[in-house]
Amino acid sequence: MPRVVRGGGTVVGASVLLPAAPISSLASIAVHPAWRRRGLGVALLDDAIELARHASSRWLSLTVDRDHGPARRLYRRQGFGTALRRSENGLARIEMLRRLGRRA
Ligand SMILES: CC(C)(COP(=O)(O)OP(=O)(O)OC[C@H]1O[C@@H](n2cnc3c(N)ncnc32)[C@H](O)[C@@H]1OP(=O)(O)O)[C@@H](O)C(=O)NCCC(=O)NCCS
Repeated sequence: MPRVVRGGGTVVGASVLLPAAPISSLASIAVHPAWRRRGLGVALLDDAIELARHASSRWLSLTVDRDHGPARRLYRRQGFGTALRRSENGLARIEMLRRLGRRA
């Protein structure tokens, strides 16, 4: 399920959720560099969490590069924990999970 955030006449942020029960997957999330650190990442993530809840998901999962500090901080701040560390084509990757209650 794609979502876009528009600003200044263009797309400045986007996310893609793959909704499923019991685990939805956040396939992608990105904010234009000029629009970062303004809360759009949190807003897109919160929106994905609500969409996953509506899809009757119990969990939301995502995978992030180990070296991607900003994204990892965003996910930790929004309640995601490390579920698995693995290597993918030589890249260190981390699978993160968040349990979805009715509310955070
Ligand atoms: C990760 C990303 C989506 C964050 O978007 P954003 O709109 O800047 O995020 P927010 O403004 O909502 O930031 C929320 C929190 O995340 C953390 N964070 C985000 N960017 C950070 C940075 N560069 N350095 C440190 N912490 C950061 C902070 O805790 C921040 O809260 P604060 O601003 O109050 O300190 C954005 O950096 C991005 O698009 N990166 C490139 C694409 C990408 O890596 N996507 C994830 C793939 S798994």
